[in-house]
Amino acid sequence: MTTPSLLILAGDGIGPEVMAEVRRVIGWFGDKRGLTFDVTEDLVGGAAYDAHGTPLTDETMAKAQSVDAVLLGAVGGPKYDALDFSVKPERGLLRLRKEMDLFANLRPAQCFDALADFSSLKKDVVAGLDIMIVRELTSGIYFGEPRGIITEGNERVGINTQRYTESEIERVARNAFELAMKRGKKLCSMEKANVMESGVLWREVVTRVGADYPEVELSHMYADAGAMQLCRWPKQFDVIVTDNLFGDLLSDAAAMLTGSLGMLPSASLGAPMENGRPKAMYEPVHGSAPDIAGQGKANPIACVLSFAMALRYSFDLGDEADRLESAVSAVLEKGVRTADLLGEEGVTPVSTTGMGDAILAALDESL
Ligand code: NAD
Ligand code: IPM
Ligand code: MN
Repeated sequence: MTTPSLLILAGDGIGPEVMAEVRRVIGWFGDKRGLTFDVTEDLVGGAAYDAHGTPLTDETMAKAQSVDAVLLGAVGGPKYDALDFSVKPERGLLRLRKEMDLFANLRPAQCFDALADFSSLKKDVVAGLDIMIVRELTSGIYFGEPRGIITEGNERVGINTQRYTESEIERVARNAFELAMKRGKKLCSMEKANVMESGVLWREVVTRVGADYPEVELSHMYADAGAMQLCRWPKQFDVIVTDNLFGDLLSDAAAMLTGSLGMLPSASLGAPMENGRPKAMYEPVHGSAPDIAGQGKANPIACVLSFAMALRYSFDLGDEADRLESAVSAVLEKGVRTADLLGEEGVTPVSTTGMGDAILAALDESL
């Protein structure tokens, strides 16, 4: 078998800091489990803009298309806020998603037992929580045309367009139903069919796809009510499927159920490649966190758990993914915490690297 290939795009802000810990974890799997990866690294976002004047070069795009999986840290930062929209760091990330056609973004929100007390919600609301948000990632208002800022009379108008084709809805719905079949067999679809035609079509297509999955209990919610239910009683959900923008908002909200945005991983998956595995990019849900960048405070767990998702979804190494997730859980049980998770009695504050050390030690203990 050829060595599986990984492209690491660490990006900006805390991206390189959290990715450094993932690199050590990848090294551990090579040394201790004989699982070697052919790892290459490149620039994305502001780092690529600084070096090349573009947030993603064509060469980097081509590399991303050719590897088995991409691992991305985070992009963006205040230094780039005034740049023209076409070269903003975020455009690099959006280009990767669009050109790799990574239409299904899996954002699991799991509350580790050790953090159940830490959430801003009551313990019994979040303890044992395990939900999966499937966010459509390559269409909707993020990419719809027309878009732009135009002048109308004596004022400017900002325009974005929400647009979904039936096939775009169908493929992400199918993906969500398949996941529900492997989990608790419940799927809740969220849109705003009460005010948006795209929502009406979304609901109709999801319902139609549901006919192929009679075992899955399908429900529909308006996304605003869904946000409320996510805070009120999140354990009513198993899998949620929603559009690009609603999924962005709902997954950040779901992050807080787990304690911190620094905990949430994600997998962005496309159609199967020749080897049968999906085209894929793995990225934490959080951003470049300019407020804490360069201070060794970032929680690397979201990025480490994103690599666990890569082991599971790109390399069929579910047991090794379980091993890594259990190591993270064990570290949290021991009270090891980065700054975003402090506040309880009896916990040990550690830096980003300290959290990496603890995860490696827990991995060693798993042998
Ligand atoms: P953010 O996710 O970067 O930060 C929000 C808050 O969460 C901050 O207080 C930050 O300190 C905290 N936080 C985030 N990740 C953390 C971690 N791993 N450990 C500890 N604390 C963490 O969102 P923002 O501040 O709205 O955006 C900052 C920049 O990041 C913007 O340029 C934005 O466009 C970009 N962004 C990029 C991505 C991505 O690359 N996937 C995602 C979201 C935002
Ligand atoms: C995310 C981010 C991105 C998004 C930005 C940085 C383009 O917020 O991955 O959640 O809006 O999708
Ligand atoms: Mn987001």
